[in-house]
Amino acid sequence: MYVLPELPYAHDALAPFVSADTLQTHHGKHHKTYVDKTNDLAAKAGLAGRPLEDVVREARRRGDAGLFNNAAQAWNHAFFWESMRPPGGPAPAGDLARRIEQGFGGQDGLKEAFVKEGVGHFASGWVWIVTGPEGLQVISTHDADDTLVREGVFPLLVCDLWEHAYYLDYKNDRKGFLERWFDNVANWDFAAAQLAAADGRGEGFRYPHPTGDASAASPSEAPRPTA
Ligand SMILES: [Fe+2]
Repeated sequence: MYVLPELPYAHDALAPFVSADTLQTHHGKHHKTYVDKTNDLAAKAGLAGRPLEDVVREARRRGDAGLFNNAAQAWNHAFFWESMRPPGGPAPAGDLARRIEQGFGGQDGLKEAFVKEGVGHFASGWVWIVTGPEGLQVISTHDADDTLVREGVFPLLVCDLWEHAYYLDYKNDRKGFLERWFDNVANWDFAAAQLAAADGRGEGFRYPHPTGDASAASPSEAPRPTA
């Protein structure tokens, strides 16, 4: 069974930038529903017990949209919780700060690209900071789509663009949400750890392994940039 990962902070830890009300609904209702449906659909597809990363890729390969959408959303949300930390944490440093400088001319340039991509993204999806052969990039994906099924892209950070992520706190002001999110709760330590993993130092984020499945199968290979 795939578990709903615990939030790595208290429900009120991100306020006022993300309220406790939003986190409770987003984690306890939206994310939980994706996990519950994944458990049901993965079992029906004969994939129960496999790492969630494998399930996402296999569902895409088979064209199983129902399983893909729920499994990818389960994964994306788990990655999203790690992409945030309470306000007041450290700014990008070291390698990450250097790559941001190279790719965007600094933190202000990255913020501008990130907010522009998120605001310009039509309807639901995700805005990502990724690394790959071209260096750091900002990209967005639609609906449940994620970086697990993109070649040569390794995610550092993600923000949820679905209205359920911000509507209670910001109404329809997605730009205000993204600006405050980037400045106050983006988890640059997590991004730095992901960047190190992309460079072969340490293991990148993995969804918690399913519980209670003795048949749990082969470990999946995390995608790495080719350069
Ligand atoms: Fe969401």
